[in-house]
Amino acid sequence: MPDDLAANSTNFTIPGPQRTTLSMLRFYRAPLTFQQCIHHDYGNIVAIGQRNRPRYVFAFGPELNREILTSSDTFEISSALLKVPKHNELGQLFYHNLSLMKGEQHKQHRRLMQPAFHHQQIRYYEASILNETKHIAKEWEHRSIIDLNLEMKNLTQRIAMKTLFGLTDEKQIEALGKHVHQLTQSILWVTLVPIYFPFTPYWRALRQARIIQTILNSLIEHKRKEVKATDVFASLVQAHDEDGTALTDSELIGHAFTLFVAGHETTANALSWTIFLLQQHPQAMTRVIEEIDGLQTDEDITTYVRSTSTFLEHAIKESLRLLPPASIGVRVTHSACQLSNYHIPANTQIFYSPFITHRLPELYEDPHRFKPERWGGIKPSPYEYIPFSAGPHMCIGWSFAMHEMKIVLTILLKRYAFTIQQQTPITPNLMMRPVKGMPMRISPQRYSFKRVSVKGTINQLIDWST
Ligand code: HEM
Repeated sequence: MPDDLAANSTNFTIPGPQRTTLSMLRFYRAPLTFQQCIHHDYGNIVAIGQRNRPRYVFAFGPELNREILTSSDTFEISSALLKVPKHNELGQLFYHNLSLMKGEQHKQHRRLMQPAFHHQQIRYYEASILNETKHIAKEWEHRSIIDLNLEMKNLTQRIAMKTLFGLTDEKQIEALGKHVHQLTQSILWVTLVPIYFPFTPYWRALRQARIIQTILNSLIEHKRKEVKATDVFASLVQAHDEDGTALTDSELIGHAFTLFVAGHETTANALSWTIFLLQQHPQAMTRVIEEIDGLQTDEDITTYVRSTSTFLEHAIKESLRLLPPASIGVRVTHSACQLSNYHIPANTQIFYSPFITHRLPELYEDPHRFKPERWGGIKPSPYEYIPFSAGPHMCIGWSFAMHEMKIVLTILLKRYAFTIQQQTPITPNLMMRPVKGMPMRISPQRYSFKRVSVKGTINQLIDWST
């Protein structure tokens, strides 16, 4: 160990609760309030486990975010939390992707994928987003109560199939959606009980993984022949470096699957919370409606969503600040290192937290209140506002997601008023999925809004005072 590290390690021990298992149980049971508690009790850096050999370190605030997210050789990307088997078709789907790549390989693949997310390219996706959202708005005409989160998940999934894979055939869309759904349903069980027998979750997951690979393989073949395709997958199939390097078929499959899974659920959760927070804040909702009311044609809508600093954009940013869909991120130390003057041994898991950073009173006034208007007057640094993370692994789809959310919200809020049912329990989990759904009454937009009282953890996370 270098001398300076040894000196620091004897001088400092990271504060934190002693009992690892109990603390981590509390974390898994109530991840958001647990982070608030340890931050309140111990400060910006908290160790869980033995003082001189912590198993987990929680790091809060912009300075530590910067240290962790920029030094990607020291604080490496980690697959430690991913317990899926590696050496079969499941591994090919879950491990071959940007978010688990390191160093030069990550840089090269990111360079090859970047053009698919360029803002010029994103314009090609607008028509699909508009059409899919209008389709769901039409379907709702005959319904009065929906589970908003489920509906948003179905919508973002359909948008992903169109924009990522260019699928148009309804049967293909349904089939791929069904297999991905079944795979993600069994995957938790595979990680808990990785036993392979016929009809076990592992057996089922592997079967789904093989079917998905077959579908994606035939799509690759198809995309190689398509000259004018404008979807993300086509752009990846055609991408190559200056020296001619292109992505192999198995790399393409890994990237495509992850884009699909990473992209739609996060966006669905962000959309659900934005609608929820707006409907609970009548003044903010009125301002959004005033802004979008005059938009008539598709062209009006696309021109509006391309502009920045609209009140709708501020509302989305504020919702991502308060309830970021990736509320926490993890890295692992490659070797012994320093973090905020503390010695951290190699192989320690380090959690950074958009959720806590976004609620620091020194960065955001009235941090627990939903105040979209604050975005007219603040410009936080890349480490103070991190719903899409920062540094080399920052979300590649952030601009796509913002664009998608603006289009979806414009169409749905113009047409429908959403009212949450009285005393509904609303509790987000670590990835901001409302664990018991989000039942909403929908009715034609009549420009009259009222806050409704709800139950659940959300009341500890949002300051409702006006
Ligand atoms: C509101 C929606 C979204 C949120 C909040 C979000 C959030 C994030 C965050 C926090 C990370 C970095 C994780 C880390 O630090 O380890 C990330 C990475 C990533 N996201 Fe997103 N994301 C969203 C939408 C999307 C969409 C629409 C796509 C693609 C279509 C996408 C694709 C990716 C990929 C490929 C990575 C890995 C990047 C890399 O490691 O270089 N995301 N996202």
